[in-house]
Amino acid sequence: MSTYENYHKTSQVYDKTRSAGGVEIILRVMEQGILPLSEQVLVDAGCGTGLYSAVLVNEVRRIEAVDLNAGMLGMAQGKMQAEEQKGRIRFHQSAINSLPLPDKSVDAVMINQVLHHLPDDAESGWPEHKKVFNEFFRILKPGGRLIINSCSPEQLELGFWFYHLIPDAIKAVQEKTINLEEIAEQLHKIGFVSHSHEVPLDLILQDEAYFHADGILDPDWRSGDSIWSLVEDETLTNVLKKVTELQKKGELENLMLEHDQPRKTSGQVTFTVAQKQL
Ligand SMILES: C[S@@+](CC[C@H](N)C(=O)[O-])C[C@H]1O[C@@H](n2cnc3c(N)ncnc32)[C@H](O)[C@@H]1O
Repeated sequence: MSTYENYHKTSQVYDKTRSAGGVEIILRVMEQGILPLSEQVLVDAGCGTGLYSAVLVNEVRRIEAVDLNAGMLGMAQGKMQAEEQKGRIRFHQSAINSLPLPDKSVDAVMINQVLHHLPDDAESGWPEHKKVFNEFFRILKPGGRLIINSCSPEQLELGFWFYHLIPDAIKAVQEKTINLEEIAEQLHKIGFVSHSHEVPLDLILQDEAYFHADGILDPDWRSGDSIWSLVEDETLTNVLKKVTELQKKGELENLMLEHDQPRKTSGQVTFTVAQKQL
């Protein structure tokens, strides 16, 4: 479970500002798998409200959707009742470090924007990440694909125009964010082969809502990014005051455009793809 975001509350508004960004990368990777796409079993680890599963559920044989939070999982289940009845998707309320799935039983695992919620840090050597990656290795069939969608510490610094307003929260989330080299090293040690990284520069986690600069003033908009849970009350009050003033002066849009420049070359998200040896 996330150690900081209240996903019971967030589940009600999450889809207002989020979508299945990068799903075409997941499809492309799976299409290179051992079995044809329509015969593959896919795990959605930390499925949330099921945004990714909903796009993929009729493309694959079955999805095993796993989330620890009943609120998020309930939203996912509500979206895909017909598919659940047809056996195309199964829902599991479970932690992803101990999956209710047999060894070597799935063709692919995707994990979208979940790693930074694991209770872990560099100082302790990221043991939770190791557990989770080991668990993925256990359930994947030989030749199976692992697709990790995460923000790198650098992307947290450069990829989000409004983060400069909340520097303490960036630091806090960076401390929870494993870097790409460490991911690659862990995967290699576990036995994954041929991993690669891909940065889709046009992927924006909050979609169009990201460019609604005055969204910051809306609690539902802020719920679309868990970083806001790490902002102290006093800081939030000051940020809201500042944004309101900038908006009144007609300067908010320019601030957004100026601070959005680095995202165009850093991107917000990296997809790490690895394969279990045949
Ligand atoms: C930012 S949301 C991402 C949801 C979805 N993957 C998406 O991209 O739309 C993070 C999700 O991870 C889930 N989560 C966090 N830690 C978890 C864990 N240890 N085991 C299972 N689910 C977890 C949360 O409950 C939440 O639904």
